[in-house]
Amino acid sequence: MIEHHRRRLSASAALLLLCCCCWASTAAGAELADKLRDDTELSQSTAKTFRRIMPVRFYSLLEQNPVANSTLSLRSCTIFVPTNEAFQRHRGSTHVLYHIITVALSKDQLPKTVSSDMDGNPPLYITKNRNGDVYVNNARIIPSLTVELTNREGKRQVMHIIDEVLEPLTTLPTAKPDAITNPDAYQFLQQADLLNIGDNRVRTYRSQVALMKKETIYSAPGTHTFLLPVDEGFKLSTRSSLVDAKVIDGHVIPNTVIFTAASQHDEPKTSAAFEDLLKVTVSFFKQKDGKMYVKSNTIIGDAKHPQGVVLAEIVKANIPVRNGVVHLIHRPLMIIDTTVTQFLQKNFGCNSFKFLNDNENGALRKFYEVIMDNGGAVLDDINNLAEVTILAPSNDAWNASSINNIVRDRKKMSEILNMHIIKERLNVEKIRQKNANMIAQVPTVNNRTFLYFNVRGEGSDAVITVEGGGVNATVVQADVAQTNGFVHIIDRVLGVPHTTVLGKLESDPMMSDTYKMGHFSNFNDQLNNTQRRYTFFVPRDKGWQKTELDYPSAHKKLFMRDFAYHSKAILERHLVIADRVFTIKDLAQMSLVSDTVLLPTFRDSLKIKVEEEAGHLHDEYASHEWTGYVIIWNYKKINVYRPDVECTNGIIHVIDYPLLEEKDIVVSGGSYLTESSICIMLANLIMITVAKFLN
Ligand SMILES: *[C@@H]1O[C@H](CO)[C@@H](O)[C@H](O)[C@H]1NC(C)=O
Ligand SMILES: *[C@@H]1O[C@H](CO)[C@@H](O)[C@H](O)[C@H]1NC(C)=O
Ligand SMILES: *[C@@H]1O[C@H](CO)[C@@H](O)[C@H](O)[C@H]1NC(C)=O
Ligand SMILES: *[C@@H]1O[C@H](CO)[C@@H](O)[C@H](O)[C@H]1NC(C)=O
Ligand SMILES: *[C@@H]1O[C@H](CO)[C@@H](O)[C@H](O)[C@H]1NC(C)=O
Repeated sequence: MIEHHRRRLSASAALLLLCCCCWASTAAGAELADKLRDDTELSQSTAKTFRRIMPVRFYSLLEQNPVANSTLSLRSCTIFVPTNEAFQRHRGSTHVLYHIITVALSKDQLPKTVSSDMDGNPPLYITKNRNGDVYVNNARIIPSLTVELTNREGKRQVMHIIDEVLEPLTTLPTAKPDAITNPDAYQFLQQADLLNIGDNRVRTYRSQVALMKKETIYSAPGTHTFLLPVDEGFKLSTRSSLVDAKVIDGHVIPNTVIFTAASQHDEPKTSAAFEDLLKVTVSFFKQKDGKMYVKSNTIIGDAKHPQGVVLAEIVKANIPVRNGVVHLIHRPLMIIDTTVTQFLQKNFGCNSFKFLNDNENGALRKFYEVIMDNGGAVLDDINNLAEVTILAPSNDAWNASSINNIVRDRKKMSEILNMHIIKERLNVEKIRQKNANMIAQVPTVNNRTFLYFNVRGEGSDAVITVEGGGVNATVVQADVAQTNGFVHIIDRVLGVPHTTVLGKLESDPMMSDTYKMGHFSNFNDQLNNTQRRYTFFVPRDKGWQKTELDYPSAHKKLFMRDFAYHSKAILERHLVIADRVFTIKDLAQMSLVSDTVLLPTFRDSLKIKVEEEAGHLHDEYASHEWTGYVIIWNYKKINVYRPDVECTNGIIHVIDYPLLEEKDIVVSGGSYLTESSICIMLANLIMITVAKFLN
């Protein structure tokens, strides 16, 4: 069916394909193939043919290697050939025989492991992923560039082009030759000091493995993934003693070989620590800056192994061994022994220059820098909390251009930072409980600023969003566990607006009725104007629903196209247009000075008073002590449900009830009513009167 991926090619067509492949994998070849068909220099020997079609960098190495050269002329084989570009990226020497197997296999014929022709025959691992891509170790076979030939001896030979040079595990030049060939993970651990793995050392972990008598898990035949924490990860002196047998199990993914480019990311895999009373999964993920991480998730914990997520940066990935693949990681998984503050700090008192510029996992480097640029007081505040949860914006999140404008405003910045801190332990499970009736409201350290959580979906498919100060962020890594709380990594900085009033209205699930009403009455159009400064009192959906109880038929009309003019006028009353925005605090202060505050609107003005009020809030979203604000308008008290939702061209205050009074609906004052609606309105008036009479 997909036979064309590995069709037999004439030498000239193959040559052509290769020409294309070197810069582009779109074999836009048909026409060129025609041109070259007449090429009279068709090679007789495969060696020559390969020379003509193979990326030159690799071919010259192949030719210089007597074993490879003779394989080419005498044997069946499959050669994995890196592109020239892959060579440019590659550092260090190239092991030609590691790229050759002595059996000819098309892409579909490749089994899970094949033996390379290098000394000791270390295996190569083949991964076929869901997209149909095939990987050899960490290198992708570029589809449609495979060439099959039969050499003079009648032997079948296959060439696959790959996008990375294959790197076998080798010994250091200082090691005795042949001291170690084709080691398994156990031998790797034992002899790591003699292996070519950079400055990384795994001595601390190795001695724990010996102490716990867990050697067999590393020498087990088969194909497994091994995560080995390097010595730098044990700077906290008590940490190594926490590496017990179960923790060691949690660092092994049995019967699965994961190369970072080849495998699906963010897909939890079952670790060897996965039984009735302790369940640990491990997954791989990549940050936008290209750094790879692993995380362990202890789904069911016990007294010694607390529940939660631990992140570790991969310091050296994809080291092939005889029984699978090894990844060296920056710190051990499963172990939760730092406070939130320590987690954020660059390093806890370690003197190693190398790690001076990195915190425990580097993923929150920018967040930490911003805290320190702001004087670092926030860190002390966090430190003083017995229980704490942080919504920590990722490094990418701080890159948004909107942030440059405020990052130097120290006061604003501390408000923003405080908005990311919650004084309780709040993991996803707990958010879910709060979230049972929709959106969970949680107070932050920043006075009177709340965060709103929403969880959709189950298990690893769950999508958690959090909204604060007008920004709706998505949790990209949840439940990173610390001794005194949790860190959730989010994709945006809260409190730094990035959308207009219209954009916010359009996307916020609490404002959809106001959006709808404004949409059909053409009121919304203006709200995308970035030259304006709006202060918009937006009744939340619940608020409009309450008017349905109070004025049933009027409510219906507000949402009918025929009454658009009327609806628009009502909305205009809620929209203050001035040369500045009014935060709820501004309005409260203005109310102290003069009894009522007059705010300009499109038609005339809005007359309100804003007061601070304490009480108990209990509704479908939340139930807790509440210090908040109320608006007094026309002798009505209306709660400000969500103050200060900041937008790029204004600010929204979400209120519990519209600025609407009976007069708007029943009074003859036709200013808001179209002629045709008056008789309906009159009918309503009669109905309402009758209803009241019956009560
Ligand atoms: C490679 O093999 C060919 C015969 O197929 C031979 O002519 C050539 O000299 C060999 N190259 C080297 C460097 O051994
Ligand atoms: C941040 O933005 C700059 C340029 O705008 C870009 O070069 C850099 O890669 C970005 N960093 C991240 C982590 O996305
Ligand atoms: C928050 O409010 C409390 C009590 O109302 C007050 O003592 C505290 O100073 C306020 N904190 C900030 C940062 O404004
Ligand atoms: C964030 O926005 C998404 C998409 O509009 C919405 O489904 C989600 O409920 C919002 N989250 C919160 C906490 O408001
Ligand atoms: C609002 O303006 C932005 C750019 O200024 C644009 O991308 C967006 O589509 C506009 N939205 C609507 C609903 O017109």
